[in-house]
Amino acid sequence: MPKSIFMKKSDKSQQVNTPDELTPDENIILDAMGLTASSRRKFLRQVSTGSLGIYASSFFSSEVFAQTVQDLPEQAQILLNEIKVNLRVNNMVKPLAIDSRMSLLDALRERLALTGTKKGCDHGQCGACTVIIDGKRKLSCLTLAATCEGKEITTVEGLAKNGEMHDMQKAFVKHDGFQCGYCTPGQICSSVALLEEAKNGEASYVTEDLKNIKSGLKLSEEEIRERMSGNICRCGAYNNIVQAFKEVHSGDDVMPTWEFATAEQMKKAKNA
Ligand code: FES
Ligand code: FES
Repeated sequence: MPKSIFMKKSDKSQQVNTPDELTPDENIILDAMGLTASSRRKFLRQVSTGSLGIYASSFFSSEVFAQTVQDLPEQAQILLNEIKVNLRVNNMVKPLAIDSRMSLLDALRERLALTGTKKGCDHGQCGACTVIIDGKRKLSCLTLAATCEGKEITTVEGLAKNGEMHDMQKAFVKHDGFQCGYCTPGQICSSVALLEEAKNGEASYVTEDLKNIKSGLKLSEEEIRERMSGNICRCGAYNNIVQAFKEVHSGDDVMPTWEFATAEQMKKAKNA
């Protein structure tokens, strides 16, 4: 960024002027505020120099940004680290020119207007941004869009077929698997990919018999909770989510119930 612009901002915010000794920059600010000669004298009597500094600060911030952008070469006005990538999302290929550091989450939401995928923490901790990449659930906030060339990405918008919701979407609606709905796209994408993990016989942290694990696993409620534990629901719709998953997974749609762990179970868990 041009050094002179920053100098102008800090220099002017330090100056103390009377209403009749306005600098050109201060005049610009007051012009931008729509104050004429008499009203600006009245205004300046009412505000402290510090207050004007605050106005000046926000004014110059936008001015710095505008001038900085104008000073850049034409292409760089849009991107600094441009890279071209073909994203295959929901069976459609979208060629994009993106910043090489852009997350898949931002590319989906900001560049492709696929806002079903939600930004919760943006730090890989809540699961709201979960999408399916090549059949596996992934956190799009921790995935660089530039690494997704040639991969098959499915977002919540791509689950319905021919205008009909995916079975998991229907089950979430039927069993009230959400309240505010913010975590729901991530929960549903995670659940859909989890169905495949169970079919493929993939183990989890709570799988008891790893030696005899087979394809076509029937997941217990404990397994479902563990495998869905990366998807946080602030509204606490967990029982309903497990119920929805169970119905699609095994046809069992009995509402799960919470129960406190026994002393023996706690001891076992601590020694695990
Ligand atoms: S937004 Fe990606 S894990 Fe929270
Ligand atoms: S439904 Fe509100 S956060 Fe899960």
